[in-house]
Amino acid sequence: MTTPPVCDYEGSDYQCSFWDSGGRAYEDRCEAIALKRLLPKSGKLMLELGAGAGRNTPRYTGFERVVLLDYSRTQLEQAQERLGRSDRYIYVAADIYRLPFVDGLFDAATMIRTLHHMADAPATLRQVQNVLHPGAAFVLEFANKHNLKAILRFILRQQEWSPFTLEPVEFAELNFDFHPKAVRGWLEEIGFTIERTLTVSHFRLGLLKRLAPVHVLAGMDSLFQWTGTLWQVTPSVFVKAKAVGRDSIPPLVGQNDILSYFKCPACGHAPLEEKKGYLACSSCKRKWAVKDGIYDFREAIH
Ligand SMILES: C[S@@+](CC[C@H](N)C(=O)[O-])C[C@H]1O[C@@H](n2cnc3c(N)ncnc32)[C@H](O)[C@@H]1O
Repeated sequence: MTTPPVCDYEGSDYQCSFWDSGGRAYEDRCEAIALKRLLPKSGKLMLELGAGAGRNTPRYTGFERVVLLDYSRTQLEQAQERLGRSDRYIYVAADIYRLPFVDGLFDAATMIRTLHHMADAPATLRQVQNVLHPGAAFVLEFANKHNLKAILRFILRQQEWSPFTLEPVEFAELNFDFHPKAVRGWLEEIGFTIERTLTVSHFRLGLLKRLAPVHVLAGMDSLFQWTGTLWQVTPSVFVKAKAVGRDSIPPLVGQNDILSYFKCPACGHAPLEEKKGYLACSSCKRKWAVKDGIYDFREAIH
């Protein structure tokens, strides 16, 4: 199966340069507010897609266990440093286009600042729908092409692409902004119902961020997030969707056995067999490495 290229974060200092020293305390706080509003209060097994260095993971307090999935092994290593190794956090290196999980496994998922890198967004949303249990919550953040700055620039003829049309805009290689109506349409087509929309980072302006204290600006953003139900002109939009029921999915069973989570991402066979240092697929004979607490499903080993 050919899948679109992956935006490679291997070896990237994204967490440090973008968040820790990049002047993004305001955005981080706004996201924390939105997540608190949208996340279920409790649950068993959460999937965090494109978890990166685990910046948001400590916010999933109501969940018994969290699976952090990212294509970049070094991002997951940073997440391990932050969160530690325990039964609570499972680290999985894999491609969102080929999720290595059995159908209907999770009772919630988040995907924050990650759809942004998806050349085929509907394909990734279909993958997410497959691994969610009917009724599961999916909190999705996406970068909004229909934002105020893009609208003004387009009207003033400073920008060629239209913020009003539904197709994604790739403003840099493998970096996409989406139209909210397009994302809603994909979600509904794939089998989600949309429960809530929040607009986030209303005041993402360099001057404002320099002048106003973070908590004041984030407090104002918090007041405005509710307007997402009516219109979406912020650079970032959060949607809470619910996976609609499918008859073929059995009820959620005990999720203590981590091995039972996985299927072979190449041929779809489950269960995989645990061997020393890898998981084996008895159907296609591929082997998937397990090293230093990270299940690695990117490339099979020999
Ligand atoms: C902008 S970072 C966001 C990280 C984190 N969600 C946050 O908000 O701090 C995007 C993450 O998506 C991951 N990613 C990109 N494409 C991916 C893919 N096809 N499969 C899995 N992860 C992917 C990258 O490795 C990176 O860690």
